[in-house]
Amino acid sequence: MSSRTLTGIQPTGTLHLGNFFGAMRPAIEAQGAGNSFYFIADYHSMTALFDAAERRRNTLGVALDWLACGLDPARSVFWRQSDVPEVTELAWILGTVTPKGLLDRATSFKDKVAKEIAPNFGLYAYPVLMAADILLFDTNVVPVGRDQKQHLEMARDIAIKFNLTYGETLVVPEPQIHEGSAVVPGLDGQKMSKSYGNTIELFGDERALRKKIMGIVMDSRTPAEPKPDADQNLAIQLLKLVAPAEVATDYESRLRAGGLGYGDLKKALFEHYWNTFAAARVRRAELAADLGQVERILQEGAERARAVADAVLQRARKACGLA
Ligand code: ADP
Ligand code: TRP
Repeated sequence: MSSRTLTGIQPTGTLHLGNFFGAMRPAIEAQGAGNSFYFIADYHSMTALFDAAERRRNTLGVALDWLACGLDPARSVFWRQSDVPEVTELAWILGTVTPKGLLDRATSFKDKVAKEIAPNFGLYAYPVLMAADILLFDTNVVPVGRDQKQHLEMARDIAIKFNLTYGETLVVPEPQIHEGSAVVPGLDGQKMSKSYGNTIELFGDERALRKKIMGIVMDSRTPAEPKPDADQNLAIQLLKLVAPAEVATDYESRLRAGGLGYGDLKKALFEHYWNTFAAARVRRAELAADLGQVERILQEGAERARAVADAVLQRARKACGLA
């Protein structure tokens, strides 16, 4: 059997370059053979977002973004997590073999608490639900950005623990982290993240996005000065993602040698970024004009996902004596 790829993205905001290069592009490239499973993690979004209308809006936005960027429902299974509620039953089952100590070590939980997000049980149990997402579909490979590595390790630990307790039942997944786009930097140089307000969105108003990119703060060296640290420059790092390799390398050597102004560099970054998503932008507008079709795609995806989920859940129920 060919290997099964699965990944999820939370509908907590507007998708950005970090999401695209860290998770979406590798997932879209892996499509084919009916073994690609991608979903919108709306249950997960409940741990941190408490506005129903916003969740609905974001869920639709994420669906449009994925479809526009090349997710092909003929080659992938694409659904909304909450349309396959079996995942919550598996999460309960897995929770009972998850040591509390494992969850206590979760850095994303600790980070969120440190940022003064009031922790709820769902946030604490987040890695268990994520393990359920993965294990419910006999997933082999999970493309994610590096920030999700620990969650993946936890999913593996939980699968192994279940198998040790109840016998070989669940497939143990592997993470797939692409070096080069493992951590896409944001406008401030930190990891690009919806929660840091430093994102470059995939889609949006041209003027506002141009302004964001032109507003990237650089140092005060004059254009003529050579810049031996050109590879550390944020615009160069982003250009490497959105421009052909030879174009990015050319800008990098011009910056290193001196003579290239930051304004011109940022202008080039904007142009390449904007062109990268030009075709997707057109597709997104078409899809947005036919939301009925988007909903049908999600419903059909949920049905197909459910068929797989049912079989795995029954296997797990049987293994632990529920059936
Ligand atoms: P955010 O941090 O903006 O809330 P999510 O946690 O919803 O993003 O991430 C969704 C997916 O995108 C995950 O696989 C995550 O690893 C990936 N991702 C998010 N930000 C980045 C980034 N800056 N670089 C690489 N991958 C990222
Ligand atoms: N935790 C992931 C994130 O914030 C989203 C997610 C939920 C996910 N379930 C998943 C990713 C299963 C991969 C597989 O980015």
